[in-house]
Amino acid sequence: MNTTIETILSHRSIRKFKDQSIDSETLNTLLNCARAASSSSNLQCVSVLRVSSEENRALLAEYAGNQAYVAGASEFLVFCADFNRHQQIVPDAKLGFIEQTLIGAVDCALMAQNCLVAAESLGLGGVYIGGLRNNPDKVSALLNLPEHVFPMFGLCLGYPDQDPGLKPRLPLELIVHEDSYQEMDKDVLAQYDDTMRNYYRERTQGKNEQSWSEQISNTVSKEARPFMMDRLNQQGFAKK
Ligand SMILES: Cc1cc2nc3c(=O)[nH]c(=O)nc-3n(C[C@H](O)[C@H](O)[C@H](O)COP(=O)(O)O)c2cc1C
Repeated sequence: MNTTIETILSHRSIRKFKDQSIDSETLNTLLNCARAASSSSNLQCVSVLRVSSEENRALLAEYAGNQAYVAGASEFLVFCADFNRHQQIVPDAKLGFIEQTLIGAVDCALMAQNCLVAAESLGLGGVYIGGLRNNPDKVSALLNLPEHVFPMFGLCLGYPDQDPGLKPRLPLELIVHEDSYQEMDKDVLAQYDDTMRNYYRERTQGKNEQSWSEQISNTVSKEARPFMMDRLNQQGFAKK
């Protein structure tokens, strides 16, 4: 074990922050860590919007489904897939392919995760905000995002004012397949469901006793932001 691995294995999302700012040198370090991530074909198709205006933070918190920590975090970064730069350099660039949406989403995730791991290594904490995709049109308008720029998710960062326990993950037996795809071992899943039920029972003083299967059933039984194709198209993404 080294400190990098300890940091990664200690990850938990932080949703309550101290009223303590992140100094500019530290923030620059975190952004440089984001910048150091791998990038598909070195396209570097990500823009990061640092939202410092209190007014805009409050609006983004609302757009994200009233997630107060979007306004309360010391820093709020919006990771956007950005092919606008490419179009400026290559005016007849062939854009709008769904492959570029995938590349943009992957590059955003890699940069953001570098940023969050670096933050956690310095005693900071954070949480991603996919809730921004509840209202990508409003978010895009507020942040003046041009065509070919799409807000994938936000990231709250700050000094933790809470100490939540680690959320247990699916065991490796269910995630890692050797050579060919294996059928899911239902006994291993049942054990994990028990683990999660206990985790939520403890974390919510008995108010929530959902297993993981129940939890994901609630999520995948609903349509997943069915407006997304239209919104992506509006910004010049996923047209073909
Ligand atoms: C892309 C992405 C979007 C997320 N969006 C939200 C969000 O809008 N609000 C929130 O409270 N947590 C959000 N999360 C955090 C997850 O709920 C959290 O990572 C997951 O439950 C596992 O918990 P842990 O991070 O504490 O281990 C998001 C995570 C990811 C990766």
